[in-house]
Amino acid sequence: MSSRKGIILAGGTGSRLFPLTKALSKQLLPVYDKPMIYYPLSTLMLAGIKEIIIIVNRESKSLFEKLLGDGSHLGIDINYAIQENPDGIAQAFLIAESFINNSPVALILGDNMFHGNDLTKKLKKANLNFTKNTIFVYPVVNPKRYGIVEFDKNGLAKNIEEKPNKPKSKYAVTGLYFYDNTVVDKAKEIIPSDRGELEITSINQLYLESKSLNVEILGRGMAWLDTGTFDSLHEAGAYIKTLESRQGYKAGSPEEVSWRNNWIKDSELIVLAKKQLNSGYGKYLIDLVEQKNESTYNFQSY
Ligand code: G1P
Repeated sequence: MSSRKGIILAGGTGSRLFPLTKALSKQLLPVYDKPMIYYPLSTLMLAGIKEIIIIVNRESKSLFEKLLGDGSHLGIDINYAIQENPDGIAQAFLIAESFINNSPVALILGDNMFHGNDLTKKLKKANLNFTKNTIFVYPVVNPKRYGIVEFDKNGLAKNIEEKPNKPKSKYAVTGLYFYDNTVVDKAKEIIPSDRGELEITSINQLYLESKSLNVEILGRGMAWLDTGTFDSLHEAGAYIKTLESRQGYKAGSPEEVSWRNNWIKDSELIVLAKKQLNSGYGKYLIDLVEQKNESTYNFQSY
């Protein structure tokens, strides 16, 4: 079994955030001290995924390349593809078909942020599960805005509805999906919804029908943050600031994840750090190496 590849879907017009996103792709906007895409990129890396494609719109491609390059500085491989028209999340598998090739694949939406204590464990487990496909659900107060899972009496998922008028639960399907290689054929099989999109919910429904969908609940101690509106974008930034100011650890730093995964060495992390010393981001990275050398007590893994 070849290792799982990763897709970050970062296309779209971001029109719900105009004028913020008139000239800049939404996934490049700041969430406190980092560009938004750092968070989903870190999430895939935490899962253990090293081969990644970022799907962007044509105008933004060069900006993403400027930010992340080919990923070699992070010990990973980053490719880019263009989404000409935003025709739904499931379109990502068609755009990335040749990149995916024969591998299993994980997709994360470029504006989705996950944080929490057991996250890494859950991600690694999903990544290494080659017999079942995994989606993550999270309780929300506004279920009409999401794909919503209905459970039976035994707590097993029995149906998924996209933006239901009468939600059957408050468990929203988050924007992180681990699938086997049949997802490409499934994406070819489904037809556009009433809103004209190839829905990820249609894909999940197919996996559910074939009894190969594992629905993992993210509980109360986890954060799944939305960045789709001015308020939620601001709140996501405030959440990250509160967390980082209190603990002194950064969430969503791809450099840190790579280093903790042993994909880059101390000396390579320090080279990256030195390019961004003025902002304090680089100092944080250097401190990680120093703390590791000084004591094991301050040095926490995630
Ligand atoms: C999309 C999916 C929905 C999912 C949500 C997560 O919604 O269609 O199933 O719950 O992402 O963010 P959209 O962003 O298209 O409104």
